[in-house]
Amino acid sequence: MNDKEIKVEDRRNIYLIGFMGVGKTAVGRKVARKLGMLFIDSDKAIEDKAGKSVNQIFSENGEECFRELEREFIQFGHPETGCVVACGGGLPIEPGIMDLLKKRGVIISLFARAETILERTDRRDTRPMLKVENKEQRINELLKKRQDVYQKADYLIFSEGRPVEVVVTDIVRAYLRQVKN
Ligand code: S3P
Repeated sequence: MNDKEIKVEDRRNIYLIGFMGVGKTAVGRKVARKLGMLFIDSDKAIEDKAGKSVNQIFSENGEECFRELEREFIQFGHPETGCVVACGGGLPIEPGIMDLLKKRGVIISLFARAETILERTDRRDTRPMLKVENKEQRINELLKKRQDVYQKADYLIFSEGRPVEVVVTDIVRAYLRQVKN
């Protein structure tokens, strides 16, 4: 079957998962543009719905509440087809979420080294999970806890040191191969 035969709005979603700072949003936006699909960032969608920032949700309502909002977003808060979703780093970690993503679409996991993650996430103060004294230690602990889940994706892509365009082309190819099957 030719990929053009499947209407864009009927195509399976793409879920980009991976740790904070691996480039899900930048890559996701470009993948969506290339495929003519809708781009959605889970954090942004949750912030818009809650009317406050992720930082505020964490400080006013707690992490548990944020995880519940992520679950709601996956279950009811985005179109079932036709979109590329950049998922917050902890979103796929909660029990049952990977199964939900698998049912809806193709899961692509992006990876980068801990050093690079530290450097990239140091630039901004928007990540409550990293508001600790020893950021490096926290990143390593979280990576260790989450790595097994990230590796359950349909495709694993090392994003570091490769131009965004090359990573985007890899993803588009992998996806089109998959939706044709
Ligand atoms: C989180 C990652 C963030 C955001 C929130 C929690 C995490 O998203 O959802 O701060 O637990 O890893 P990004 O991965 O887009 O930074």
